[in-house]
Parts: sequence; structure tokens; C-alpha cells
Amino acid sequence: MRTHHCNELRSSHVGEEATLIGWINTVRDQGGVIFVDLRDREGITQCVFRSEVSPEAAETSHKLRSEDVIQVRGKVGERLKAEGVDTTNENLDTGEIEIVVEQVTIVNKAEVLPFQLDKELSNEDLRMKYRYLDLRRPRMTANLRTRHRVTKATRDYLDEQAFTEVETPVLSKSTPEGARDFLVPSRLQEGHFYALPQAPQQYKQLLMVAGLERYFQIARCFRDEDLRADRQPEFTQVDIEASFVGQDDIIGLVEGMLGRIFRDARGDEIPARFDRMTWREAMDLYGSDKPDRRFDLRFVDLSEELKDCEFRVFSGAIAAGGVVKGINAKGFADISTGQIDKLTKLAQEAGAKGLAYIQARGEDRGSWRSPFVKRMTDAEVEALRSKLNIEPGDLILFAADQWESACEVLGRVRLECAAMQNLLEGNTELDFLWVTEFPLLAFDDEEGRWVAVHHPFTRPHPDDEARLLSGKDDELKDIRALAYDVVLNGHELGGGSIRIHEAPLQSAMFKVLGIAEEQAQEEFGHILDAFRFGAPPHGGVALGLDRLVMLVCNEDSIREVIAFPKNNKGSDLMSHSPAEVDPKQLRDLRIQVVKRPK
Ligand code: AMO
Ligand code: AMP
Repeated sequence: MRTHHCNELRSSHVGEEATLIGWINTVRDQGGVIFVDLRDREGITQCVFRSEVSPEAAETSHKLRSEDVIQVRGKVGERLKAEGVDTTNENLDTGEIEIVVEQVTIVNKAEVLPFQLDKELSNEDLRMKYRYLDLRRPRMTANLRTRHRVTKATRDYLDEQAFTEVETPVLSKSTPEGARDFLVPSRLQEGHFYALPQAPQQYKQLLMVAGLERYFQIARCFRDEDLRADRQPEFTQVDIEASFVGQDDIIGLVEGMLGRIFRDARGDEIPARFDRMTWREAMDLYGSDKPDRRFDLRFVDLSEELKDCEFRVFSGAIAAGGVVKGINAKGFADISTGQIDKLTKLAQEAGAKGLAYIQARGEDRGSWRSPFVKRMTDAEVEALRSKLNIEPGDLILFAADQWESACEVLGRVRLECAAMQNLLEGNTELDFLWVTEFPLLAFDDEEGRWVAVHHPFTRPHPDDEARLLSGKDDELKDIRALAYDVVLNGHELGGGSIRIHEAPLQSAMFKVLGIAEEQAQEEFGHILDAFRFGAPPHGGVALGLDRLVMLVCNEDSIREVIAFPKNNKGSDLMSHSPAEVDPKQLRDLRIQVVKRPK
């Protein structure tokens, strides 16, 4: 239907005949002559309808409206550029030419759109309801095409590294120890349910037992979680598993793969090797297992300096075995009371009792505004001044608690502070980081038992293995895992681990997690059985493809890089899912919905 696309014609084509087809981006009437900007996925070409060239086309042109689909045929003309009049458009690749239309066909008329495509729209519900129009915006089309380039680069790279792509079941089995499952009722087996996979974790490990050695899958995963900007109920992982490898092999593989992705999808070179930091260091310095290092605001430990402080919030926390940590928000002493309140509320939501602060307005401590500085000795103030490098104009924020709680609280405050100070404005850095040595287990106070931090198949650090086997509570506390996350600009891009491949160690892990032997056999029998038949040492990783593409595209939400995402209530506002179903379908499944009493 076309000889060229809408971003193809240049001055070198002047005089040639061309046929274009696409959507009308804009129509302008200039003294009775109609100018149309015609758009297709590649770009825009200006078309002009002159009655001296074609009276019929000129007459039709008065009926044209935005977003009509039209086909035009005509000659490529040079745009007027003379003394005093310059009709060329530097912002368009095709800005030096125009099509002088000889024939036009209105292929399909468009009604007035519910929103304008050339304006940013804050009403996301409206965008989602008419997603097919929202995706017509060049930015959105470009995002989907970038996503394609990312998956293609991923497949190319892994193929070259001798990985085999294998599809694993989407109708699979519910397993404990994860997020909440999405269930699918079985018609053939009454009262039985499939679960949609939260990740192909067990299947990929079984493929290692099968001898595949190198597996990957661009896998759709499903988790019934609360949704956020970087979380969807269904999302895609680049899921990888390999045999006879250690942590450094997986890390090297992912570094190479991300290098290839950023080169192919964006034309950027990224570092060949990424920095590494243990989980403990990351928490201790940034209060996060996915630190954003593009701004400093690093924690300073003040426990030694403040252990005898008259301010009980500090000395009390230290006496109870905790710590005092502080950050210096440079130049933020003029923070408003409202902002301080907001930070304090954030700290409290994260579990703190409060948020101690100093607004260092001047050099002299007398000029500092703070609820507690008056209760500090000169020596303590000077220690703070030197350790935190306090200068006039700085804002200092403190957390006093047990180490992990204090770090978590201050980590949240740190991010909000950076947002309030716009520390990332105009920042185009890409900061890749590996966080290693995650804890294997965490104690869940609500459930009163140990839970796996990553998942129950993750291998303990060899130096800590004996402690896992002991199964004793006080031994389980700080066991390190052979688990690693790859972080980009404060986002958890992916995570993985070296796995347990021996049945006895796997059984010991289940036992520590409070899964009785019988239940372990019932839920995970296939894994335990498989490990008895010569399972190779193996490990792997999964990258969140949506998050990766979001960052490649410089977007703030994964919804901008998913064709048809769900909103934060898990609904698709376009097709209206989830929806009630025909009673017959429920009867076939022998399912009854019990409505909540009003
Ligand atoms: P994990 O649970 O860490 O590991 O998931 C891996 C990556 O998937 C992405 N991700 C999500 N993206 C969008 N929406 C969600 N709801 C969502 N949940 C997770 C994140 C995350 O880093 N089987 C293991 C991996 C392994 O051990 O090999 C797993 O699934 O980017
Ligand atoms: P108080 O003496 O209880 O009025 O607290 C003085 C200041 O310390 C207030 O700004 C509180 O928000 C803050 N604060 C209280 N508990 C903590 C804590 N655990 N860590 C940091 N600051 C705290």
C-alpha cells in the first residue's frame, strides 16, 4: 500500500513519485490550502493539497480530520526556503521535503479521540481504557519496539553461549514458600486446582537433573501481590539456569548479557564488570539491599561517639545492643516543618519511634535547630561535626535502634530525602551493582518460624553449611546464602543463587523452614527424588524483563513498557478483566461463589 514509510523521504528524493499511508497526525488550513502531517510508526511526512495540482484531492482534503487513515500519492517537493520565508522543519527528519498530493484516498475515518495523542495524559485509567490509542503515541510504540530489541538481544546472546530455550508449564502446582498463587480450577478433576507459576524455579532445576546443562526461558510469571510501579500480577522473567557453575560464572554471564542488551537496544556501552557489595555492607551504608548509589547520602555510624550521650534515645538504643546511624543531607537545613513531618511519618511507618534531626543553620552549635543538641557535650557535638562533615546549611538525620531496623528506617528516609532535594534531576548515569551474601534465612515474627529469604532451594555459603545442618535457632541467624541480586539505579533487576543439589541438605533446609518430612515429600517430593539420581551442581538467576526494559527506556513504571498492563487493582480496564463468568462455566467446574454479606 506504500512505496515509502513516513520517515524515509529526503531532499535526494525530490521529483520522485511516492505513495504513503498512515494516520493524520495534524491538519492545518493555511489560507485555504490544507497541510497534513502524515504519521506511521517510523515518523512524519508533510503532505500539501494544492488545487492547481489536483482539484479533487484539494476538495477531499477539507474533509480530513486527525487520526483518519489516508493513502496519498504525489511528487516529492522541496519545501520553500528563501530570504524571509523558511518552511523547512529542523525537528523532522523529513523536514526539507513535502508530498505534493495528486491523489488521496480516505481509507478509514476516525471519530474524535477520547484524548489527544500529542499531550501527556495524567489520567492513567483513561489511557488504559483506550490502550490501543495510548500505544499509538510514538513514545509508547518506541517502548514496545525497544522491548523487542531487548528480548532479541537476550536470545541472541544466550544462544551464542549455548543455552537452550525450553518452555515450562503455565498450568503448574501451587507450592508453599512464595507469594500468593493465582489458581486455575480443573474441570476434569473436581476440587483440584492448578497454580500459575510464580517462577519456573523447580522446573528449571529439574532440567538440570535432566542433563540440559544450560537452560533459559523468557518466562511469564504470576504473583498475586500488592501492585506498585515496578510490580505487576503477571510479568516476564529472563530465567536462566546452568550446571557445573559457581556464583562468578552466573555473575559473568549476566554482565555479558546486559552489556549486549544495552549495546543492541540502546547503543550504549556499560561497564564490563559491575561493582560488588555484600548485603551487610549495602544495608550498613545505604539501608537497602538495592542501594541507589547515584547520590551519596551514605550512613555514618555514631554508636561509639554517642554511647554515653545524655539524650536517652541514642544512648538507650546503644545500651540495648543497637546502633545510632546518621546521614548528612548537604544544604538541606532549610527543610520545611511539613517536610520534616513527612520524613518522620515515613520513619515511623518503617517501624521507628521517631526521627531525630539537626538543622545546622550556622557554624556555631547555638545556631543549630534540633530537639536534642542542647543535651550533648561539646565533645559529642565535635565528633558529629567531624564524622558527618557538618557545614552550615546541612541537615542531619538520625536513626537509633537495633542494627537492621535502624538501617532500614534510615534507608527509606535517605531515598525520600534525595527525592525532596531532586538529587537525581538530569542524572543519566547507569549504576550497576551486585549485592552478594544475602542472609539465607529470616525469622518471621508473625508466623513464629524461619523463612527462606530468597527461596528454599538456595544454597548456604559453604562456611555456614554446618550451621544449617545443626538446625539450632541461634546458629541459623546469620547464615549467608550463595545468593546474589543485580541492581540498577536502585532497582532490583534480578536475583539468583547457587542451589542445593543434594537430597539430605535439601531435606535439612525444609526441616529448618518448619516443613515436616511428610509434607516435604508431598509438596516437593519430585525435587527430593530427582536429587537422588545424580543431580549436578547448578545455579541460576532470573532478571525482571519488564524492569529491565523500563530502565532501558528511561521510564518510571513497568506499565509503560507492557502492551496491556493491569492497573493497581489488578484490573484490565480495556477488556474488563477480571470479570464474573457465565454460571454454566462455574457449574462445569463445580464452583460456587459465596458473596460477602453487605
Ligand atoms: P525473584 O523472585 O527475585 O527470583 O524474581 C526475579 C526478578 O523478577 C522480577 N520480579 C517482578 N517484576 C515485575 N512484577 C513483579 N511482581 C515481580 N516479581 C519479581 C524482579 C526480580 O528480581 N526463581 C527466582 C530466580 C532464581 O533463583 O533463579 C526468582 O523468581 O526483577
Ligand atoms: P523525644 O525525646 O522522645 O521527644 O525525642 C526527641 C527526638 O528524637 C524526636 O525528634 C524524635 O522523633 C526522635 N526519636 C525518637 N526515637 C528515635 C529513634 N529510635 N531514632 C531516631 N530518632 C528518634
